[in-house]
Amino acid sequence: MTQSKRRRVIAGNWKMFKTQAETRAFFAAFNPSVAGVTDCDIVIAPPSINIPAAAAATKGTHIAISSQNHYWEKEGAFTGEISAGMVVEAGCRYAIIGHSERRHIFGETNEMVFKKTKSALAAGLTPIVCIGEMLADRQAGRTENICQTQFQGSVGALTPEEFSRILVAYEPVWAIGTGHTATPEIAAAVHGFVRQCAAEMFSAGHAAAIRILYGGSVKPDNIQGLMAQVEIDGVLVGGASLDPKSFATIVKDWQR
Ligand code: 13P
Repeated sequence: MTQSKRRRVIAGNWKMFKTQAETRAFFAAFNPSVAGVTDCDIVIAPPSINIPAAAAATKGTHIAISSQNHYWEKEGAFTGEISAGMVVEAGCRYAIIGHSERRHIFGETNEMVFKKTKSALAAGLTPIVCIGEMLADRQAGRTENICQTQFQGSVGALTPEEFSRILVAYEPVWAIGTGHTATPEIAAAVHGFVRQCAAEMFSAGHAAAIRILYGGSVKPDNIQGLMAQVEIDGVLVGGASLDPKSFATIVKDWQR
């Protein structure tokens, strides 16, 4: 499948930033500036408490809302957690799962990421499953090994049909919030490797169709170089998605 067949995705992960009022202010500025954009999927993941405000502010637009995390059970005595069904009801269509901050700060394992991915799919969400190596892994030449283990452990046991409904985000930990973006070539090489893993785990068709996003210090001034790579189907943007102007520039300028 050629690059043009895979629809591009420009996603913003707000992490633990923005109040409800700031959420409304963001969309008031952002929506008009991307109103004419139809050639990519636009996704924003606010903190879960602000999902309803974000959903209300994007009603009638083609901007989709994502959760940043959820728990895999439908309901129960799990203090502090929210379910996939709850985030759907609140207005989400996507679910970020296994972000490196969840893995490294909150101890999420591949098995937990798998369960979250399964439950997101069962609730009708599109999972954005994150993988990526740490600096020490890259320096030790273990990037492929780490990515393969995370990918296999997080989504390898999905059914082929389920696998066809997920997105993957490759986010090298050393590039997140550091200003050190991976070069387009480094990112594309890992994407190509992950695609090859998908072919081995599922089929050549699944590998050709899966959309793999890059994340890690994506900014308006590096978006074009990244998106010029055939292997890079979109981006997951942290810091630069907080400002409506810079995120709108990323959404609009990726193919110029
Ligand atoms: P930055 O764009 O701030 O490096 O964050 C990337 C990220 O973690 C997106 O999920």
